[in-house]
Amino acid sequence: MTSPQAPPALRLRRIYEVAPRDLDRAGTVSTEVRRELLALGMSPDVVRRASVVCFEGEMNMVLYSEGGRIILLVKEDRVELLFSDRGPGIADVDLASQPGYSTAPDWARELGFGAGLGITNMEQNSDLFKIRSRVGKGTVVRATILLGVPFF
Ligand SMILES: Nc1ncnc2c1ncn2[C@@H]1O[C@H](COP(=O)(O)OP(=O)(O)O)[C@@H](O)[C@H]1O
Ligand SMILES: [Mg+2]
Repeated sequence: MTSPQAPPALRLRRIYEVAPRDLDRAGTVSTEVRRELLALGMSPDVVRRASVVCFEGEMNMVLYSEGGRIILLVKEDRVELLFSDRGPGIADVDLASQPGYSTAPDWARELGFGAGLGITNMEQNSDLFKIRSRVGKGTVVRATILLGVPFF
């Protein structure tokens, strides 16, 4: 029996490594996440939002971090994406979250990155969104997409 206080049951957990500056593989995690969610029969809207969130978070780890991991958790009532990297961290998270703010290097801009809308996009496609960062340590982003109130 599940008590009302029990945490939502875990349906799926996947852990993906993200290598820094590896543009050839950039986007592979979001493609995998999309595939997993479709296989679980998630709605097109949830799949789209999770894919956007994952792609932007993955790109940021590839472009700006020393690499790390992305964890996908699917629970009864939500999809969670956890991004954690090995640094360098973000000195001013509020500033980095402003639409249009970007420190993308020239080589990344030449490839079309650096519009400064990635974090904004992640926030807009999540129901719950939190960035924690420590300079010299790393950045952790938690993005949650709620699946809607279950009908009893
Ligand atoms: N994981 C990260 N580690 C360090 N800095 C980051 C990370 N993610 C984002 N940033 C910083 O936040 C800025 C804004 O990110 P974002 O909104 O995705 O726009 P863009 O990637 O186009 O620059 C980046 O330019 C970078 O300076
Ligand atoms: Mg970005």
